[in-house]
Amino acid sequence: MSIEISPSILSADFANLINDIEECEKENINIFHIDVMDGHFVPNISIGPVVVESLRKKTKSVMDTHLMITNPEDYIESFAKAGSDWITFHIETVKNPLGLIKKIKDLNLKAGISLNPATPIEKIIPCLDEVFLVLVMSVNPGFGGQKFMSISLPKISKLKEYRSKIDNKFKIEVDGGINFDTITDASKAGADIVVAGSSVFRTEFGIKKSIEKLRELSATVHGS
Ligand code: DX5
Ligand code: ZN
Repeated sequence: MSIEISPSILSADFANLINDIEECEKENINIFHIDVMDGHFVPNISIGPVVVESLRKKTKSVMDTHLMITNPEDYIESFAKAGSDWITFHIETVKNPLGLIKKIKDLNLKAGISLNPATPIEKIIPCLDEVFLVLVMSVNPGFGGQKFMSISLPKISKLKEYRSKIDNKFKIEVDGGINFDTITDASKAGADIVVAGSSVFRTEFGIKKSIEKLRELSATVHGS
Protein backbone atom coordinates (compact mmCIF):
# COMPACT_ATOMS: atom_id res chain seq x y z
CA MET A 1 0.00 0.00 0.00
CA SER A 2 1.36 3.41 -0.88
CA ILE A 3 1.62 6.34 1.46
CA GLU A 4 -1.37 8.70 1.63
CA ILE A 5 -1.05 12.46 1.37
CA SER A 6 -3.20 14.73 3.51
CA PRO A 7 -2.72 18.24 2.06
CA SER A 8 -2.78 20.93 4.75
CA ILE A 9 -5.15 23.65 3.64
CA LEU A 10 -3.23 26.11 5.81
CA SER A 11 -0.94 26.65 2.82
CA ALA A 12 -3.76 26.78 0.27
CA ASP A 13 -5.25 29.95 -1.18
CA PHE A 14 -7.97 30.89 1.31
CA ALA A 15 -9.65 33.08 -1.28
CA ASN A 16 -9.90 30.03 -3.49
CA LEU A 17 -10.05 27.18 -1.05
CA ILE A 18 -12.53 24.91 -2.78
CA ASN A 19 -10.72 25.27 -6.11
CA ASP A 20 -7.46 24.16 -4.49
CA ILE A 21 -9.23 21.24 -2.82
CA GLU A 22 -10.89 20.16 -6.05
CA GLU A 23 -7.58 20.30 -7.85
CA CYS A 24 -6.20 17.84 -5.29
CA GLU A 25 -9.29 15.65 -5.56
CA LYS A 26 -8.68 15.35 -9.32
CA GLU A 27 -5.40 13.69 -8.31
CA ASN A 28 -7.32 11.23 -6.15
CA ILE A 29 -6.59 12.94 -2.87
CA ASN A 30 -9.42 12.27 -0.45
CA ILE A 31 -8.07 13.43 2.90
CA PHE A 32 -7.52 17.09 3.81
CA HIS A 33 -5.65 18.30 6.88
CA ILE A 34 -7.35 21.16 8.71
CA ASP A 35 -5.01 23.04 11.06
CA VAL A 36 -6.89 24.67 13.92
CA MET A 37 -4.78 27.12 15.98
CA ASP A 38 -5.89 29.22 18.92
CA GLY A 39 -3.06 31.64 19.70
CA HIS A 40 -2.61 29.94 23.11
CA PHE A 41 -1.25 26.46 22.59
CA VAL A 42 0.54 27.77 19.50
CA PRO A 43 1.58 31.34 18.66
CA ASN A 44 -0.75 31.64 15.68
CA ILE A 45 -4.46 31.77 14.90
CA SER A 46 -5.95 29.97 11.93
CA ILE A 47 -9.44 28.62 11.31
CA GLY A 48 -12.38 27.14 13.21
CA PRO A 49 -15.56 25.13 12.73
CA VAL A 50 -17.21 27.62 10.34
CA VAL A 51 -14.63 26.80 7.68
CA VAL A 52 -15.13 23.07 8.19
CA GLU A 53 -18.88 23.59 7.92
CA SER A 54 -18.57 25.47 4.63
CA LEU A 55 -16.20 22.94 3.14
CA ARG A 56 -18.38 20.03 4.25
CA LYS A 57 -21.09 21.29 1.90
CA LYS A 58 -18.69 21.16 -1.03
CA THR A 59 -16.60 18.04 -0.50
CA LYS A 60 -17.03 14.43 0.57
CA SER A 61 -13.33 14.03 1.37
CA VAL A 62 -12.16 13.21 4.87
CA MET A 63 -11.57 16.26 7.03
CA ASP A 64 -8.54 15.40 9.10
CA THR A 65 -8.87 18.00 11.84
CA HIS A 66 -5.74 18.85 13.84
CA LEU A 67 -6.59 20.77 17.00
CA MET A 68 -3.64 22.83 18.20
CA ILE A 69 -5.70 24.39 20.96
CA THR A 70 -5.95 24.37 24.73
CA ASN A 71 -9.10 22.82 26.23
CA PRO A 72 -9.85 20.78 23.10
CA GLU A 73 -12.68 19.02 24.99
CA ASP A 74 -14.73 22.23 24.75
CA TYR A 75 -14.70 22.21 20.95
CA ILE A 76 -15.21 18.59 19.94
CA GLU A 77 -18.97 18.89 19.53
CA SER A 78 -18.64 22.01 17.36
CA PHE A 79 -16.25 20.29 15.01
CA ALA A 80 -18.36 17.14 14.94
CA LYS A 81 -21.40 19.19 14.05
CA ALA A 82 -19.47 21.13 11.43
CA GLY A 83 -18.50 17.91 9.67
CA SER A 84 -15.02 16.88 10.78
CA ASP A 85 -14.28 13.17 10.27
CA TRP A 86 -11.07 12.71 12.21
CA ILE A 87 -10.27 14.81 15.26
CA THR A 88 -6.74 14.85 16.59
CA PHE A 89 -5.79 16.64 19.79
CA HIS A 90 -2.43 17.17 21.49
CA ILE A 91 -1.39 15.07 24.46
CA GLU A 92 0.24 18.24 25.88
CA THR A 93 -3.19 19.91 26.21
CA VAL A 94 -5.20 17.38 28.23
CA LYS A 95 -5.26 15.73 31.62
CA ASN A 96 -7.53 12.86 30.65
CA PRO A 97 -6.68 11.81 27.09
CA LEU A 98 -8.64 8.55 27.31
CA GLY A 99 -11.77 10.46 28.30
CA LEU A 100 -11.41 12.75 25.32
CA ILE A 101 -10.77 9.86 22.95
CA LYS A 102 -14.01 8.29 24.19
CA LYS A 103 -15.88 11.55 23.69
CA ILE A 104 -14.69 11.77 20.08
CA LYS A 105 -15.58 8.14 19.39
CA ASP A 106 -18.99 8.51 21.00
CA LEU A 107 -19.69 11.16 18.37
CA ASN A 108 -18.87 8.54 15.71
CA LEU A 109 -15.67 10.26 14.69
CA LYS A 110 -12.16 8.88 14.47
CA ALA A 111 -9.89 9.95 17.31
CA GLY A 112 -6.26 10.90 16.87
CA ILE A 113 -3.56 11.90 19.30
CA SER A 114 -0.62 14.13 18.50
CA LEU A 115 2.69 14.86 20.15
CA ASN A 116 5.16 17.71 19.79
CA PRO A 117 8.76 17.06 18.75
CA ALA A 118 9.89 17.40 22.39
CA THR A 119 7.29 14.98 23.77
CA PRO A 120 8.43 11.36 24.09
CA ILE A 121 6.15 8.61 22.77
CA GLU A 122 5.98 7.09 26.27
CA LYS A 123 3.40 9.80 27.06
CA ILE A 124 0.94 8.44 24.53
CA ILE A 125 1.50 4.70 25.06
CA PRO A 126 -1.62 4.39 27.30
CA CYS A 127 -3.73 5.72 24.39
CA LEU A 128 -2.44 3.46 21.65
CA ASP A 129 -5.06 0.75 22.14
CA GLU A 130 -7.81 3.31 21.59
CA VAL A 131 -6.82 5.76 18.88
CA PHE A 132 -7.43 5.64 15.15
CA LEU A 133 -4.31 7.64 14.44
CA VAL A 134 -1.14 9.04 15.93
CA LEU A 135 0.04 12.36 14.49
CA VAL A 136 3.77 12.74 14.96
CA MET A 137 4.82 16.38 14.75
CA SER A 138 8.01 16.93 12.82
CA VAL A 139 8.00 20.70 13.48
CA ASN A 140 6.91 22.73 16.47
CA PRO A 141 3.27 23.37 15.68
CA GLY A 142 2.15 26.87 14.74
CA PHE A 143 3.19 27.59 11.17
CA GLY A 144 3.43 26.01 7.75
CA GLY A 145 6.68 26.02 5.83
CA GLN A 146 9.04 25.07 8.65
CA LYS A 147 12.04 22.77 8.44
CA PHE A 148 11.50 19.05 9.06
CA MET A 149 12.98 17.84 12.36
CA SER A 150 14.47 14.39 11.95
CA ILE A 151 14.01 13.69 15.67
CA SER A 152 10.55 12.51 14.56
CA LEU A 153 11.89 9.60 12.51
CA PRO A 154 12.81 7.23 15.37
CA LYS A 155 9.41 7.99 16.91
CA ILE A 156 7.68 6.80 13.75
CA SER A 157 9.70 3.59 13.67
CA LYS A 158 9.08 2.93 17.36
CA LEU A 159 5.36 3.44 16.93
CA LYS A 160 5.35 1.07 13.97
CA GLU A 161 7.12 -1.55 16.02
CA TYR A 162 4.78 -1.06 18.97
CA ARG A 163 1.77 -1.37 16.66
CA SER A 164 2.98 -4.72 15.36
CA LYS A 165 2.54 -6.12 18.87
CA ILE A 166 -0.99 -4.90 19.59
CA ASP A 167 -4.41 -5.49 18.03
CA ASN A 168 -5.26 -1.85 17.40
CA LYS A 169 -3.74 -1.00 14.02
CA PHE A 170 -3.67 2.79 14.40
CA LYS A 171 -2.41 4.88 11.49
CA ILE A 172 0.83 6.82 11.77
CA GLU A 173 0.71 10.30 10.30
CA VAL A 174 3.60 12.75 10.20
CA ASP A 175 3.15 16.51 10.07
CA GLY A 176 5.51 19.37 9.31
CA GLY A 177 8.22 20.05 6.76
CA ILE A 178 7.30 17.19 4.46
CA ASN A 179 8.66 18.01 1.00
CA PHE A 180 10.51 16.46 -1.92
CA ASP A 181 13.62 16.07 0.24
CA THR A 182 12.02 14.63 3.37
CA ILE A 183 9.09 12.47 2.26
CA THR A 184 11.38 9.53 1.48
CA ASP A 185 12.72 9.39 5.02
CA ALA A 186 9.24 9.67 6.54
CA SER A 187 8.04 6.93 4.27
CA LYS A 188 11.02 4.71 5.07
CA ALA A 189 10.47 5.18 8.80
CA GLY A 190 6.93 3.83 8.40
CA ALA A 191 4.47 6.72 8.09
CA ASP A 192 1.13 5.73 6.57
CA ILE A 193 -0.02 9.29 5.95
CA VAL A 194 1.99 12.46 5.44
CA VAL A 195 0.66 15.97 5.88
CA ALA A 196 1.94 18.28 3.19
CA GLY A 197 1.14 21.99 3.08
CA SER A 198 3.76 24.09 1.31
CA SER A 199 4.95 21.18 -0.81
CA VAL A 200 1.46 20.74 -2.31
CA PHE A 201 0.15 24.29 -2.51
CA ARG A 202 3.23 26.50 -2.72
CA THR A 203 5.73 24.98 -5.09
CA GLU A 204 6.84 26.21 -8.48
CA PHE A 205 5.32 23.07 -10.06
CA GLY A 206 1.66 23.59 -9.15
CA ILE A 207 -0.64 21.26 -7.25
CA LYS A 208 -0.92 18.38 -9.74
CA LYS A 209 2.81 17.98 -10.42
CA SER A 210 3.70 18.43 -6.75
CA ILE A 211 1.40 15.60 -5.70
CA GLU A 212 2.80 13.39 -8.45
CA LYS A 213 6.35 14.14 -7.34
CA LEU A 214 5.60 13.46 -3.66
CA ARG A 215 3.95 10.16 -4.56
CA GLU A 216 6.84 9.10 -6.76
CA LEU A 217 9.39 9.86 -4.07
CA SER A 218 7.52 7.95 -1.38
CA ALA A 219 6.57 4.98 -3.56
CA THR A 220 10.14 3.88 -4.06
CA VAL A 221 10.60 3.06 -0.41
CA HIS A 222 7.22 2.71 1.24
CA GLY A 223 6.60 -0.65 2.79
CA SER A 224 10.23 -1.70 2.57
C1 DX5 B 1 2.03 23.05 11.71
C2 DX5 B 1 0.81 22.40 11.10
C3 DX5 B 1 1.11 21.68 9.85
C4 DX5 B 1 1.53 22.59 8.71
C5 DX5 B 1 2.22 21.79 7.67
O1 DX5 B 1 1.67 23.67 12.87
O2 DX5 B 1 0.24 21.47 12.03
O3 DX5 B 1 0.02 20.87 9.45
O4 DX5 B 1 0.46 23.27 8.13
O5 DX5 B 1 2.76 22.66 6.74
P1 DX5 B 1 4.09 22.31 5.93
O6 DX5 B 1 3.79 21.05 5.15
O7 DX5 B 1 4.28 23.50 5.05
O8 DX5 B 1 5.17 22.11 6.92
ZN1 ZN C 1 -1.21 19.96 11.27
